[in-house]
Amino acid sequence: MKLAVITGATRPGRQTPKQSLWIVKNAAQIEDVEVEHVDLKDYPMPFFNEPISPRYNPNRDIDPTVQKWLSKIAEFDAYIVVTPEYNHTIPGELKNAFDFMTWELKQKPAAVASHGSVGGARAALTLKEVLSEGQAAVIPKFSAVHGISELIDEEGNLDATAAANPYGPQAQLDGMLAELKWYSDALVAARA
Ligand SMILES: Cc1cc2nc3c(=O)[nH]c(=O)nc-3n(C[C@H](O)[C@H](O)[C@H](O)COP(=O)(O)O)c2cc1C
Repeated sequence: MKLAVITGATRPGRQTPKQSLWIVKNAAQIEDVEVEHVDLKDYPMPFFNEPISPRYNPNRDIDPTVQKWLSKIAEFDAYIVVTPEYNHTIPGELKNAFDFMTWELKQKPAAVASHGSVGGARAALTLKEVLSEGQAAVIPKFSAVHGISELIDEEGNLDATAAANPYGPQAQLDGMLAELKWYSDALVAARA
């Protein structure tokens, strides 16, 4: 599985990369998984500004950073999008990045990882809808973290007590990664 872990927040002082790094570390330990951290901060795109919906416009005049983003996203078999919750939904810059897409996610599995006061649940639900309309096969399992500032450090290490909880964030992440791998292997074969 060629996996992208996408950090969907860009503000200074953001917590989201900690959840992404934790996921990257865990994914890297799974056999047959090649994982890359794709940070939205490295793709400072304009606000969506195209005159025609990208999927219906064969003659797009694409901003170079948007093209770099689309080419990067197209490289992968599977995706985990990591989002915080801002005002009960996903950050504007993350939605904006999806508005530029055409068929990059088509028939590929995508999972949602979130954090916030209720684990980012409201943002996660919105993100699932956006990914689904983006033509991804959104998988059922998810990772939702409550209290990220205390639970995960800057290097992406999860607090030991939380890690040992059989119903905690580590168990949830393990389940999500296993399910994503299953869908990815199945869909790689199907697309071939
Ligand atoms: C603009 C803004 C709106 C927020 N709205 C919510 C919210 O609706 N629900 C929630 O649980 N947390 C909310 N928070 C708290 C964030 O989930 C928390 O700050 C988290 O660390 C944000 O991710 P980030 O640090 O990567 O930006 C909000 C934070 C910001 C900056």
